[in-house]
Amino acid sequence: MLAIRPLAEPERLDVLVLPVRPAEAAAGGDVSAELTPTAVTPPGDTADEAAVLVPAARLSGRAGEISTQLRPGRDPGRLVLLGIGDGGESSWRTAGAALARSVSDETHITIALPAGVTAAAVRGLTEGLLLASYRFRLTDDEPRTLDGVDLLVTDPAAHEDTVATARTTAAMTRLARDLTNTPSSVKNPQWFADQVAAASADLPDLRLTVRGPAELTAEGFGGILAVGGGSASGPRLLEMDWHPANARTHVVLVGKGITFDTGGISIKPVPAMKLMRKDMAGAAAVVAATLGAAAMRLPIRVTTLAPLAENMVSGSAFRPGDVIRHYGGTTSETTNSDAEGRLVLADAIAYAVRQLKPDLLVDLATLTGANAVALGKRTAALYSENDDLAADVLNAIEAAGEAAWRMPLHGDYVEYLGSEIADLYSAPTQGAGSVTAALYLREFTGDLRDRWLHLDMSAPSWADGDHAELSRGATGWGVRSLLRWLAAVD
Ligand code: BES
Ligand code: MN
Ligand code: ZN
Repeated sequence: MLAIRPLAEPERLDVLVLPVRPAEAAAGGDVSAELTPTAVTPPGDTADEAAVLVPAARLSGRAGEISTQLRPGRDPGRLVLLGIGDGGESSWRTAGAALARSVSDETHITIALPAGVTAAAVRGLTEGLLLASYRFRLTDDEPRTLDGVDLLVTDPAAHEDTVATARTTAAMTRLARDLTNTPSSVKNPQWFADQVAAASADLPDLRLTVRGPAELTAEGFGGILAVGGGSASGPRLLEMDWHPANARTHVVLVGKGITFDTGGISIKPVPAMKLMRKDMAGAAAVVAATLGAAAMRLPIRVTTLAPLAENMVSGSAFRPGDVIRHYGGTTSETTNSDAEGRLVLADAIAYAVRQLKPDLLVDLATLTGANAVALGKRTAALYSENDDLAADVLNAIEAAGEAAWRMPLHGDYVEYLGSEIADLYSAPTQGAGSVTAALYLREFTGDLRDRWLHLDMSAPSWADGDHAELSRGATGWGVRSLLRWLAAVD
């Protein structure tokens, strides 16, 4: 991953980036942007040259605006003017992302940061650079890419922690993207568990337990076993525990980990199945956030559950209409084998409520296509009965640069969950698919009903093209938000 370091003196100068901000239009004048005064004086004649270029290039200073000037034979050989908008974290994230894309043919750049630059700005910039320069690669051969960024500031030491936090956040988001982008021929449940074990190797205080079919059977995880039963690669339940001595609050995170979703016997049509390798994006996000919490040594206990299974079509697959018995004893009539995510989540949630008894319970899942129908491709659906918890998580999501919208847990629709032969129908056929899925999960939250929050993140887990800090493919949605929230919980 790209190395980013704060520095007081430039050590090399291939490309110099100078920030440009919108300016108050002078009476009668047409000046609309200006060079931002920098902490460290830009070398040589670059500031004078840039001051001429800003009006000549008719820059507006909006976040992410880029203008490049080549200076063959001189140092730096390339001068980049970068719009930083209002200079807030989100503008800097956008600017960092645009910059990473525009200098992707360079290996090293130097950015002169504004005088008095805030920690939020440095965080946004660092995350934008690291997230937008992400590319998924199946092989190890690295193409020529940007590998060093120096941030020119007066007091480098003052920014080191901020850069480190942003680096960990971005590294964990990139890990979640890698896991999610990986083809399902590679990522079966055991492979996923192995990846997490490898990623936690240098975090000895992070406990990791993996249950296989034998343990799942002995303990009664009927939902995970049913969904995983049709696959040649058996299901797993991954449990991670970050338990620092100074923790006051205990959070349980649960993530849906379907390593491929064919829909099972209720098989999906071709277009709907195409991207179902991403159906473990919830598991990837909670696991990566937990690794991040441990790496940053956040003073909070985080226990993370990732039920992992492949939903396949075979002679041993579960059937629509089967009745399964979840962890703890609640039964579901599996009306549609394509509503598999909620079956594995139900087991994990019931286990958390009965065995772990946390203060707060949060689950992330690529649960329904209805998420995108209601909210479009970039926004998750958030459900909770707890206004404070909902507000805290929404704040963290917004600060992190992700998006969610709070949705209603309509009591009126609970009746659709009624089955004649089991406690619950797993897939009511009436509308509001994301809402009824949330209502189904709520049935398993027991004592934690009003301390539970559910995020249906099917839509924003994937980007159809490059967009700001998102690179085409898996987005790692939720890692940034969870880390913000976990750092703020008290
Ligand atoms: N994994 C899918 C949901 C999904 C759809 C995620 C599109 C990402 C993009 C989930 O398992 C599913 O199939 N849900 C069904 C539920 C229905 C059968 C009640 C759906 O949304 O159609
Ligand atoms: Mn499904
Ligand atoms: Zn699914």
